[in-house]
Amino acid sequence: MNKYIVNGGRPLYGEVTVSGAKNAAVAIIPAALMVDGVCRIENIPQISDVTLFFSILDELGAKVRILNRHAVELDCRAIRSTRPSYELARRIRASYYLLGALLGRFGEATVAMPGGCDFGVRPIDQHIKGFTAMGAQVSVEGGYINARAKNGHLKGANVYLDVVSVGATMNIMMAAALAEGTTIIENAAREPHIVDLANFLNSMGADVKGAGTDSIKIRGVKRLNGGSYAIIPDQIEAGTYMAAVGGELLIRNVIPKHMDCISAKLMEMGVEIEENGDEMLVRRTGRLHRTNIKTMPYPGFPTDMQPQIASVLALADGTSLITESVWNNRFKYVDELKRLGARIQVDGKMAVLEGVDHFTGAPVQAPDLRAGAALVIAALAAHGTTEISHVQYIERGYEDIVGKLRAVGADISMVDEPETEKEEARIG
Ligand code: EPU
Repeated sequence: MNKYIVNGGRPLYGEVTVSGAKNAAVAIIPAALMVDGVCRIENIPQISDVTLFFSILDELGAKVRILNRHAVELDCRAIRSTRPSYELARRIRASYYLLGALLGRFGEATVAMPGGCDFGVRPIDQHIKGFTAMGAQVSVEGGYINARAKNGHLKGANVYLDVVSVGATMNIMMAAALAEGTTIIENAAREPHIVDLANFLNSMGADVKGAGTDSIKIRGVKRLNGGSYAIIPDQIEAGTYMAAVGGELLIRNVIPKHMDCISAKLMEMGVEIEENGDEMLVRRTGRLHRTNIKTMPYPGFPTDMQPQIASVLALADGTSLITESVWNNRFKYVDELKRLGARIQVDGKMAVLEGVDHFTGAPVQAPDLRAGAALVIAALAAHGTTEISHVQYIERGYEDIVGKLRAVGADISMVDEPETEKEEARIG
């Protein structure tokens, strides 16, 4: 287990290039299982969740040919199993997409209950509701989810989601792409990665319309043929660097429209932002002002930026309020921020942040991916040295965060944690 050592207090200056979107990649890679041909995928982020997916596809019989750091060729013509290994699938949340993809193409799938970051109950009832409406029988047994289409093939259906769910929207879209007839998903999620998955499927020969609105229509086709596709830039990675700015950063490879929900809040707090094509210049010249944040499905403020913005607000001038309306328990990082000197009170889904004028470095532990990123932001601003342990969570979703930050002047390095500390981390 590695940890990061951060000597804070240095403003960041220079350029950061954003990688491909994690939450698009972890849907598009399993969606390639539906393609009866070769697909080339570019702008893939080099993160551990992606590497794990390549192992899963390889084990199922796909040919995975890495072309370079950010491009891969996937040949899923000769898939020989619809049951990914329990050990691999249980380690990632997005393994639920294997259900939609395998069920859609082969009419059956057996996949371990998904893992991933723990911020409260993470049900998948809406995914199952969609598969069932399309004629699948779904059961949970021995830690596996079994889904099987009656007569071996799914049928298009109308599915109204009871909650706006990114995962259910994408999973049902995949399952429907090769189903017989038309599926309509109502109350669909609208995140940029949903549009990206639809564009990927369409570029392989699917017929998906309306992605990006709350009503998506998928006309099932007989076969997906293969082709080339480039994943969109990661909105949350870009937002994380924008929140980390203490000086001036040119953030490259972004879609500014996707950033509006984050930029609007940062500007309200006093950050200066200039857009220019696929680049954004982000400048900060003094202490930021307080604001209130409420997380919402897209185009609202993303829950996946909530911990990072909390690190910034905890140092802002005045008292801010954060309401988390997507997840039940996404304030686990607050105790760690308090070790650095933050003044935050959590009451259920709300946090009150009384801005302090500085943080002081301390040993902290990343509780999950975005919370880990929040601790990095806090450590960069803190006086003195912060040691962040459990950084494997951060590396699930941020490509080379240490290298990217060092290149813009941060004093951050990765060290191997000694054995005794590894043991404590396991016990803790
Ligand atoms: N929900 C249900 N039933 C379901 C599915 C979801 O009640 O069947 C509820 C959840 O409990 C939650 C809300 O609906 O309260 C939204 O969940 P959603 O399904 O949208 O989340 P997800 O698909 O499991 C993805 C991202 C998360 C991100 C959320 C919300 C991936 C792999 N994960 O999760 O990303 O927080 O959407 O935008 O795409 C992250 O990147 O750090 C991360 C956690």
